[in-house]
Amino acid sequence: MGNGPDSDDRRNFLRISVIGGIAVITGGVGAVSAFIPPKLGESVGEGPQPLVPMLKLGALVKDKPLKLQISLSARDGWRLRTREQLVYIVRIADGEDAAAFKVLNPICSHAGCTIDYHEKDAQFVCPCHGAEFKSDGTKTKGPAPRDMDPLEASIADHNGQPWLFVSWQDFVIGTEERTVRGGA
Ligand code: FES
Repeated sequence: MGNGPDSDDRRNFLRISVIGGIAVITGGVGAVSAFIPPKLGESVGEGPQPLVPMLKLGALVKDKPLKLQISLSARDGWRLRTREQLVYIVRIADGEDAAAFKVLNPICSHAGCTIDYHEKDAQFVCPCHGAEFKSDGTKTKGPAPRDMDPLEASIADHNGQPWLFVSWQDFVIGTEERTVRGGA
């Protein structure tokens, strides 16, 4: 029985709110997001979960990432621990299908700092050791061993509307190879 955020004996829950005013989304489970908030501690299943309505993403401009804040909470017995995480959604092509968007995990593969987006330079920059990435997450310079880690995204119906679904994953840092860390 582990104590880390990846312990198999815990269920993880997400609460998501969009920074910058597109929508407020709360609830979730299994290291993913959900729209209708379950009661805290209630599981709604694992796998891809709805992140944001496509209607809200229609206006997303190419190469201008949208920042979402995620609360990942893990229940350990009666105790609920929460950690805040960010994800970025970037439009990388025209269209309204999943291939038009990329969802990026902002945790730097060098040493695990949270990567910021610098709008004036239109690039992601890691505040710790200066790794830089294009707005689609491709590394351009610095010590990060790989591009920003993409999260699996898809579009599916949710409450009668198309939504962008995403699966949150943590990845091993310090390696060129991209490896998922632990379970949900
Ligand atoms: S942690 Fe990002 S460059 Fe070192």
